[in-house]
Amino acid sequence: FTHGSGPCPLEGRTVIVTSGPTREPIDPVRYISNASSGRQGTAIAEALASQGAIVKFVTGPAEFSKPRGCEIIPVETALEMEAAVTAALPADAAIFAAAVADWRIAQPADAKLKKDGSGTAPALDFIANPDILASVAHLPAGERPALVIGFAAETGNLETHARNKLARKGCDWLLANDVSPGSGVFGGADTRILFLDGTVTDDWGPQSKTAVATKLADRIGKHFAGGN
Ligand code: CTP
Ligand code: CA
Repeated sequence: FTHGSGPCPLEGRTVIVTSGPTREPIDPVRYISNASSGRQGTAIAEALASQGAIVKFVTGPAEFSKPRGCEIIPVETALEMEAAVTAALPADAAIFAAAVADWRIAQPADAKLKKDGSGTAPALDFIANPDILASVAHLPAGERPALVIGFAAETGNLETHARNKLARKGCDWLLANDVSPGSGVFGGADTRILFLDGTVTDDWGPQSKTAVATKLADRIGKHFAGGN
């Protein structure tokens, strides 16, 4: 991999990227999941690798899950994703592009659930999954990656939700996008990012997910070069 003919701004930097959905089992053949394609996470991982970073790519089962030039760590559940991220530390930066299931089934059945003939549907009890981004962002200095970057998928007032999420999660940067019906962001090739750090809110405008990936990788390179 080369970055044009110039130097590799992220040479020697280790970056963890989470991507794709998680899959939370109900029984051996059924699960709860979401429509994340892994497209944005994959594009980011490839952009970082092309700038010389050592990329550890922790991915749920997604359509896009094989970024070139990266170490690929496949997982299914949120708990597996959390364990894989923990095992991949330490890192200089961590980027959380995965659409992690917020809840999992409290007690997945060991055997396939069967209809009992009465016509009643089973009730599923959920419990909260760990917040992987928030726990990494709140690691003690020394264990915490110097740069922790989250994503936010929102409907409604994007900026208000995103500012609150940045503070609540404790990350350094947040890339927010509007996933209202009709936006086409989930699974689509294009997106529109609202970038936030502790001080600035910056509308990156409508663009492809690969363009977002390049812009983000460039910004990370500048950050580590002391340029921002
Ligand atoms: N995230 C995570 N672990 C979770 C949930 C979310 O690491 N259990 C990360 C996502 O990868 C993303 C960020 O947190 O980078 C925000 O995810 P999002 O679903 O938008 O936020 P939540 O805190 O789950 O809030 P809500 O879904 O209620 O808006
Ligand atoms: Ca969520």
